[in-house]
Amino acid sequence: MTGPMDDNTQAQRAFRAALGSFATGVTIATTLDKAGEPVGVTASSFNSVSLDPPLVLWSLAKDSFSRPAFAQSGHFAVHVLAASQEDLSNRFARSGEDKFAGVEWSEGRLGSPVLARYAALFECRTRHQYEGGDHIIMVGEVVDFEARDEAPLLFHGGRYAEHRPRPGGEARASVDLEHGRFSDDFLFQLISRAHYRTSRPTRRKLAELDLTMSDYMVLAVLSMDAPLGGEAIAARLSHTGRAPDASALADMVEAGLLVRRDDGYDLGDEGRSRFLEALAVGKAFEADLADHFSEAELAAAKGVLRRIIDLTDDDRTGAGR
Ligand SMILES: Cc1cc2nc3c(=O)[nH]c(=O)nc-3n(C[C@H](O)[C@H](O)[C@H](O)COP(=O)(O)O)c2cc1C
Repeated sequence: MTGPMDDNTQAQRAFRAALGSFATGVTIATTLDKAGEPVGVTASSFNSVSLDPPLVLWSLAKDSFSRPAFAQSGHFAVHVLAASQEDLSNRFARSGEDKFAGVEWSEGRLGSPVLARYAALFECRTRHQYEGGDHIIMVGEVVDFEARDEAPLLFHGGRYAEHRPRPGGEARASVDLEHGRFSDDFLFQLISRAHYRTSRPTRRKLAELDLTMSDYMVLAVLSMDAPLGGEAIAARLSHTGRAPDASALADMVEAGLLVRRDDGYDLGDEGRSRFLEALAVGKAFEADLADHFSEAELAAAKGVLRRIIDLTDDDRTGAGR
């Protein structure tokens, strides 16, 4: 037989589980304590209340360490977390720790700490605090907000989750052949814009290093496989439209970028060091960009791109992809 206390615990567990079937985003609410120190908690109880005036709410456990700070400060900021911010969510869900150590933040419009990264931000003046059982319901008037185009972190059934749009939901046609237009939903246009933008830091670095894109590609091919003859290099780069001819290779030898051996071309010391400098810029940019995505998103994106490359295999030269 279970006693009333057990019943209660079981009932609470079932209640909690039933509430968990309501999928939410995840936020971090921040404010300052009396000493001016930053305070923050992870909260999934965030919701909209009113458009005019603009009001939002979230509820804070009465026994939380941060409660006195939120109760007296008169302001708070709510950060809607991006899919890649699970670690930050966990950090701010640990009671009382120095949650801000090593976290980048600045003072917001009303004084609340504003984290550097978020999917959306709502800076609020505290308007009401309502009793809500073992929680306090905080209602804030939004004085400033910002939404960034990032996939959100979700919470459902007691676990983190990710947003996956349902197929067929696209409102716009990606290509309008009748009028000769395409929208920003056209996959090829997206790939080419993404390529243009992601290669920009490298292109800038190449200009600084006095290398052309063709030079860079030759250096990249030889960094993977050398020595190679002129024809082999050209074959590996034929799909790029930037295959070097004999005179381009001779210029690279002249500049110390390549060395000519009996069995083909190899990287010269100058070529190797400039190639590594340019490569480092691309790698650093990729690492910064990757911070904005979850592991699952990155794996999915790479999978799609690899499949596109495989499916468009026809005009492949067999190497140098
Ligand atoms: C996904 C998630 C959602 C949460 N939502 C809330 C919430 O809405 N309100 C709340 O008071 N605590 C919530 N918590 C728990 C607090 O983040 C946690 O109790 C935190 O340690 C409180 O910090 P403090 O005691 O330092 O103030 C949530 C935790 C997680 C992981």
